[in-house]
Amino acid sequence: MYTIGIESTAHTFGVGILKDDEVMASERDTYRPKSGGIIPREAAAHHYRTASDMVSRALKKAGISLADIDLVAFSQGPGILSCLRVGSAAAKFIGKKTGKKVVGVNHCIAHLEIARKTTGLADPVMLYVSGGNTQIITYSDGRYIVFGETQDIGVGNLIDKVGRQLSIPFPAGPKIEELAAKGKRYIKLPYSLKGMDVSFSGIETFVSRLQKPFSVEDACYSLQETVFAMLIEASERAMAYCKKDSLVITGGVAANSRLNEMGKIMCSERGAKFDIVPKEFTGDNGAMIAYAGYLMRDYKQSDLALRQRFRTDTVEIAYR
Ligand code: ATP
Ligand code: FE2
Repeated sequence: MYTIGIESTAHTFGVGILKDDEVMASERDTYRPKSGGIIPREAAAHHYRTASDMVSRALKKAGISLADIDLVAFSQGPGILSCLRVGSAAAKFIGKKTGKKVVGVNHCIAHLEIARKTTGLADPVMLYVSGGNTQIITYSDGRYIVFGETQDIGVGNLIDKVGRQLSIPFPAGPKIEELAAKGKRYIKLPYSLKGMDVSFSGIETFVSRLQKPFSVEDACYSLQETVFAMLIEASERAMAYCKKDSLVITGGVAANSRLNEMGKIMCSERGAKFDIVPKEFTGDNGAMIAYAGYLMRDYKQSDLALRQRFRTDTVEIAYR
């Protein structure tokens, strides 16, 4: 059985193809604003331009044609409406052409499921860290429960905003990681963890007020050390509270080696399991959407409407 998955919630247009639950192709292209953050209209225009090319590339890589597709999945939300529309239109078009079922997928749940699949950890605490989201999640009784979360912006968003202050273009994560590795001096930043919730906007303000001269490497190093420590401490609390013996980190920021290293150290100290999600599946991609659609293939869905705010804990996880 072949499933095609289409991702278009924000900056990335991605197309993934699975044969049963095995990833055959995952092609993507990311919109990069010339300066500043995402401009929704420009991101959607990028997706329209690249959509058919991504579908063709993914089919070619998987060695199949459109007629071989058995199931079509797309990101229903959460995300930017103008961007979501492109993926939904592409999915419905493929559904119509092939006469196959189309399923809408919650983007956040796709990040969680691809992490469980690629690590093989069946029931971990999940630290979901991306641009828009920062949540600590566990599974209980047919739902993913949000145990702790950011009270303001996502950690990736903080990283991108600090990047802008330091003249690093969007998405700033990879460059900040590179610079942080060269940092030596820790600049004390606000450590804002309350129970299992975190907040980041105070850190952004603090960094914007740092007096020059300071080294950019030290600023990036201090940023990473502070926010990752907050996230790992919150994850550890969730693991202790829920009595779960494993952790996965997923979402765009999970590409960061230092964050993974901290997660690994914390888990080894408590005798828990930890495994890294491969980089090609941490950031937004079509393969994770195809996989979440594949898991949902036998279940009825109320509608395929787009949902800009689509909370993870509202989805019934009938397949677990
Ligand atoms: P979501 O809708 O799940 O919030 P998103 O639109 O933010 O998704 P993702 O691809 O999941 O998209 O995450 C992108 C974020 O990941 C950006 O903020 C980017 O800076 C960050 N990021 C990418 N690589 C790294 C890295 N190596 N270190 C830290 N952050 C990273
Ligand atoms: Fe994402």
